[in-house]
Amino acid sequence: MFGTATNEALPNKYLTDYAAWDRYMAHVWQPLLERFGAAQAKTIVEVAPGNSSKLGLALAELHFCGELFLVEPSAAGNYILAHYQALLPTAKVTLISKKLGDSLSDLPSRPGLLIANHPLDDMLLAVEASPESLAQLFDSSLAPTEIVSNQFRGRWTEISANIEHLDTIANAVYAEWLNAINIIKPSGILVSQYGSSALKNAHMDDLNASAKSILRRLQCAPLEDYLADAELQSLLNRNKHYSNHYIGTEVLDAHHWWAVRLLG
Ligand SMILES: C[S@@+](CC[C@H](N)C(=O)[O-])C[C@H]1O[C@@H](n2cnc3c(N)ncnc32)[C@H](O)[C@@H]1O
Repeated sequence: MFGTATNEALPNKYLTDYAAWDRYMAHVWQPLLERFGAAQAKTIVEVAPGNSSKLGLALAELHFCGELFLVEPSAAGNYILAHYQALLPTAKVTLISKKLGDSLSDLPSRPGLLIANHPLDDMLLAVEASPESLAQLFDSSLAPTEIVSNQFRGRWTEISANIEHLDTIANAVYAEWLNAINIIKPSGILVSQYGSSALKNAHMDDLNASAKSILRRLQCAPLEDYLADAELQSLLNRNKHYSNHYIGTEVLDAHHWWAVRLLG
């Protein structure tokens, strides 16, 4: 297990309360963002926040006062924009209501950081979905333990039934990230894609596996001038794993994070 053993039981709120889990993840993200210079960054781009404030909470702890671009194509964008503006009173927060691949001309060149928490499974499902259908696909009214809407499950069943179709869609997500990075050239990239326990409980571990395999390809992508961060695992290890298999072997394992910096 990765992380710190404290013999404390996992607080039940992490399984039942979005806000509590967002605070745990913000605590995981904060030292990583700090190490990547987020506090001093003039511009940061967050991809696919949905209506989760994990990264906004971490940036608030760092008193971020630059400009934060939120790339979120669904209606959740308006909610998260207002929420982040309240959390980050000294920052400018700008919403780009588009998918990452369509947002490049709206994003700053050479932002300090490009960040995303657990975006790849959702991006995979959204490749062929219209912006209007995203709110139903990622139904935010569901409890944390049942994040899988009928549309979400149906979409995955449809995609995964045809391996060639799945490959095409996975390639599209991989290319969307690589193209964005090659065009905007962020100074640092931090993306997590750990296995989701909610997907596992919903018997959709194959979606976890597909999303992780996109992360693996990105980690090995031929990106010139980017170097992986060597301190990642030791920073993740500072967090309590509560003897919880999912936290200890998924969330806090550096293999499930992509953390690279532009040299020079
Ligand atoms: C449900 S949220 C979950 C991820 C969130 N960061 C978290 O940690 O809980 C995923 C979001 O990804 C967004 N999304 C899907 N495809 C996208 C794309 N190509 N570019 C940007 N956002 C995308 C969806 O609109 C959705 O709101």
